[in-house]
Amino acid sequence: MSDPKISVGIITVSDRAHAGEYEDHGGPALVVACEERDWEVIAQAVVPDDLDRIQTTIRGFSSQGCGLILTTGGTGIAHRDVTPEAIQGIMRVEIPGFGETMRMRSLEITPNAILSRSLAAVVDSSLVVALPGKPSGAVECLGFVERAIPHSVKLALGVPTSC
Ligand code: MTE
Repeated sequence: MSDPKISVGIITVSDRAHAGEYEDHGGPALVVACEERDWEVIAQAVVPDDLDRIQTTIRGFSSQGCGLILTTGGTGIAHRDVTPEAIQGIMRVEIPGFGETMRMRSLEITPNAILSRSLAAVVDSSLVVALPGKPSGAVECLGFVERAIPHSVKLALGVPTSC
């Protein structure tokens, strides 16, 4: 029997998109990227760069059954960027290889990739992947780690797997 579709939650983290000062392009770009991979997007949100709001939304999406939660934005070093800290505050384990791979591969595209503190972690029963805010960068980074996602989601959900 084939594996069930991966259920995805997508969170855009941006003060300005949340305030309606500009349109969210990162979330829709990730929806398209998920559809291309035959993953099912079951929840979406745009939240400000606020630690509590990010954490509450991640936990809510996990309890709704999102095996994979993608965030976009807030991974850099601007004053309001707190996405990594929000995830690290609620995670069970971080998976450093995701961040290492995203930065290493992205550096072939832009030297500014070094500024992203992108990461992946297990929160409750979900794999959370924090992607950069630029829509093209978020989709690029997802592509660099996508092959490890199905197995990581199963482990996060506690599904018995053989490697
Ligand atoms: N990674 C990729 N693949 N492509 C990009 O365009 N932009 C970088 C970096 N990582 C980028 C990227 C830039 S300019 C910044 S400032 C950091 O991600 C952090 O972005 P964020 O704070 O919007 O998450």
